[in-house]
Amino acid sequence: MSTVTITNHPLIQHKLSILRDKNTSSKDFRTLIAEISMLECYEATRDLPLQEIEIETPICKCKAHNIEGKKLAIVPILRAGLGMVDGVLELIPSARVGHIGLYRDPETFKPVEYYCKLPTDISERDVIVLDPMLATGGSAIDAITLIKKRNPRSIKFMGIIGSPEGIKALQEAHPDVDIYCAAEDDHLNDHAYIVPGLGDAGDRIFGTK
Ligand code: PRP
Ligand code: URA
Repeated sequence: MSTVTITNHPLIQHKLSILRDKNTSSKDFRTLIAEISMLECYEATRDLPLQEIEIETPICKCKAHNIEGKKLAIVPILRAGLGMVDGVLELIPSARVGHIGLYRDPETFKPVEYYCKLPTDISERDVIVLDPMLATGGSAIDAITLIKKRNPRSIKFMGIIGSPEGIKALQEAHPDVDIYCAAEDDHLNDHAYIVPGLGDAGDRIFGTK
């Protein structure tokens, strides 16, 4: 079974409280999503393999470490996943970026695919899927199913808020995909929104409501 990491670092918890607040502006919301994503990325990349190298400081030669030539790709789920891209690229500027477009049907809550563009060499890459909200889990599950058809080396999921239902569904559907979230909330309401959550992430990022 996959691991679930809730990155409840004080800096993340502080920023998450402001993010949840309904009075936070779209501008601040975007900044906070990017900052939390960067902090979470630090945790999600903790297992990147290192190689020993030799460098020369102004004082002497010494052994040091750099990240092995590991190829990464990030795949935001449109729209809200886009808000996480810049924060992750701050830490991993060489990552390739794919995009998967899914929206939740408002009646059935099932994801509907409308776009998929992935790096051509994704089979040589480790992939991190980005979406701030893991509610029923349907969008993350379908996005990962699409990516798996292209045989990447590995896949992780990075969200901001997960529901117990979504985390369980994702673990059951894709037991090989480790999950990183900043919080696990209480439950889903009758509209499949996360409670307490932060509302509609896409609308809050893009100011569309
Ligand atoms: C939201 C969110 C996730 C999805 C989560 O997207 O960004 O992609 O819902 O819900 P799920 O776990 O139940 O599938 P939405 O469908 O509202 O589209 P948008 O990002 O374009 O607003
Ligand atoms: N999508 C969101 O943006 N928020 C939720 O709480 C659930 C799905």
